Amino acid sequence: MTSQKICRVGVVGAGQMGAGIAEVCARAQADVIVYEPTRDLVAAGRGRILSSLDRGVSSGKLTEREREQAADRLRFTSDLEDLADRQLVCEAVVEDEAVKTAIFTELDRVVVDPDAVLASNTSSIAIMKLATATRNPGRVIGLHFFNPVPVLPLVELVTTLMTAPEVTARAESFAHDVLGKQVIRSADRSGFVVNALLVPYLLSAIRMVESAFSTVEDIDKAMVLGCAHPMGPLKLADLVGLDTVKAIADKMYEEFGEPLYSPPPLLLSMVEAGRVGKKVGHGFYDYDRLLVGKK
Ligand code: 3HC
Repeated sequence: MTSQKICRVGVVGAGQMGAGIAEVCARAQADVIVYEPTRDLVAAGRGRILSSLDRGVSSGKLTEREREQAADRLRFTSDLEDLADRQLVCEAVVEDEAVKTAIFTELDRVVVDPDAVLASNTSSIAIMKLATATRNPGRVIGLHFFNPVPVLPLVELVTTLMTAPEVTARAESFAHDVLGKQVIRSADRSGFVVNALLVPYLLSAIRMVESAFSTVEDIDKAMVLGCAHPMGPLKLADLVGLDTVKAIADKMYEEFGEPLYSPPPLLLSMVEAGRVGKKVGHGFYDYDRLLVGKK
């Protein structure tokens, strides 16, 4: 196993999480290739990353030069084969087991280095299921980031019974030493540590709205002013994406069978209606009409 520092990274998926992961990798001096399957999705992903870099400049966290250097370290592709020489690939596509397992089977074929780390940003799908979709399950691991990725300092590191110790050490060192994130370990159980605690809380807030216990605004105000949370649970559910909250809750309910993980009807209706939160401009709140690729 090589102990070479990871400097060639691939990111599969450039939605809000994938774009954030690609951005922090590029800002940390890595050479990054971002994969999306179509030109439109590539353009949207590129727009997301560039507008977040702009935000870094306007908030004084990045200089113009650092923004240009980070942008120069990013390349985009619609051909997965372009990830062949990567030392670490992080998958951040939709929270769907069939889609993710298919990607891991392909990555396993494409990524040449047997010591490369194949990581998933899944929140709720067993890393073991992704590992067993490959011929080399020892290089598969969970690296779970938090939204907005450039702002939140945590990464959950999730190993399986088959993850090679060297892969774990390499992934942890990348997240901590290269990206500057704080790393915690979690068992390979649906939701890991953060979502196992967070999702029942978000679902409880949605049930409160459903039963007219209080209003959306007052529930959020309660947690911001009463518990000093940076944002209330309904605004946070909008930020995460209600489709993602539902997908995580479905998986957790499937694994644990506890009613507290069962997605409430209001969540199902909102997802059905396409009102899935900030990324589309509507959720529990209305946001300014968002253009694809803009914040
Ligand atoms: N990209 C880059 N920087 C961003 C950003 C983004 N998308 N969003 C915010 N920032 C920066 C801003 O530039 C600002 O920087 P500054 O303080 O230097 O000016 C700073 O973050 C604070 O942003 P704002 O002043 O615009 O807004 P707020 O103070 O309201 O903070 C927030 C916004 C950072 C989103 C804060 O409300 C927050 O941390 N909320 C909680 C988010 C959270 O809990 N995320 C976890 C979700 S769970 C998850 O992701 C797991 C998944 O599996 C579901």
